[in-house]
Amino acid sequence: MIEITNEEFNVLKKFVYNEIGISLKDCKKSMIDSRFQSILLRENISNYTEYFNQKLQNKKSKDYEEFIHKITTHHTFFYREDKHYEYMVNSILPWIKTTVKDYDVRIWSAGCSTGEEPYTLAFYLNGYFEKKIWDKKILATDISLEALDKASKGVYFKKSLERLPNEYLEKYFNKEINEYKVDRKIKNEIIFRKFNLMDDFKFKKKFHVIFCRNVMIYFNQKTREKLVKKFENYLVDGGYLIIGVTESITNLDGHNMKLIKPSIYRKI
Ligand SMILES: C[S@@+](CC[C@H](N)C(=O)[O-])C[C@H]1O[C@@H](n2cnc3c(N)ncnc32)[C@H](O)[C@@H]1O
Repeated sequence: MIEITNEEFNVLKKFVYNEIGISLKDCKKSMIDSRFQSILLRENISNYTEYFNQKLQNKKSKDYEEFIHKITTHHTFFYREDKHYEYMVNSILPWIKTTVKDYDVRIWSAGCSTGEEPYTLAFYLNGYFEKKIWDKKILATDISLEALDKASKGVYFKKSLERLPNEYLEKYFNKEINEYKVDRKIKNEIIFRKFNLMDDFKFKKKFHVIFCRNVMIYFNQKTREKLVKKFENYLVDGGYLIIGVTESITNLDGHNMKLIKPSIYRKI
């Protein structure tokens, strides 16, 4: 087993923070060893300094992309934290229906991982808005190209679909032996893109709702503050920011988002 030294871990920590804003805690040292062992062996590299110097300097390389995927956590499933979807159907979508006059709904799943969250959103929007009138766009972004690749394929095992109501499974998936494939019509409503949340936001239009769930837990307070301010700037007035149920932004400075319910905030 090739173990990362304290010095190497500090270099890597700084690198990850500068690149993608994630603050690696010291207890993650052993996680690095287990996640990167197979790469070092495959590449015939004998220590992390070599790996860092040889493989991570070119940000356009496959090695760099592989590193970003391995260092991030992608755990997710369909219908996760379903209270948010309930709130969306009962309060947010009716607000959109009565106030959005140009019939153009814009929702962002920021940190969408392998796609379960944006697809669940699409099922709800599809059931709620009349097809011919409403233009429903879901932007789904993540830093990991590998996660986005899986997301855009839209093929899942039964396990990650366990919580999804049966009506959605029957309506929006095609069963293929052991796997379930998201219907093409639903796929067409989602735009999957690589996007680093540390970068400046340059979207043409503002969003009605931003989901950024279970992403900010990996960032420190300063990074969260900057990010929440950027989200606020890119929400329409009255727009919602939804974060993970174990997260909170009430203690963060620099924003005016109003707490509506735990983990649901509104730009007032
Ligand atoms: C645990 S998943 C959350 C998935 C989904 N939102 C949910 O709640 O089930 C966290 C995702 O955030 C992404 N992520 C982490 N840092 C990021 C950054 N700086 N920019 C964009 N995405 C990032 C990771 O790649 C990962 O897919």
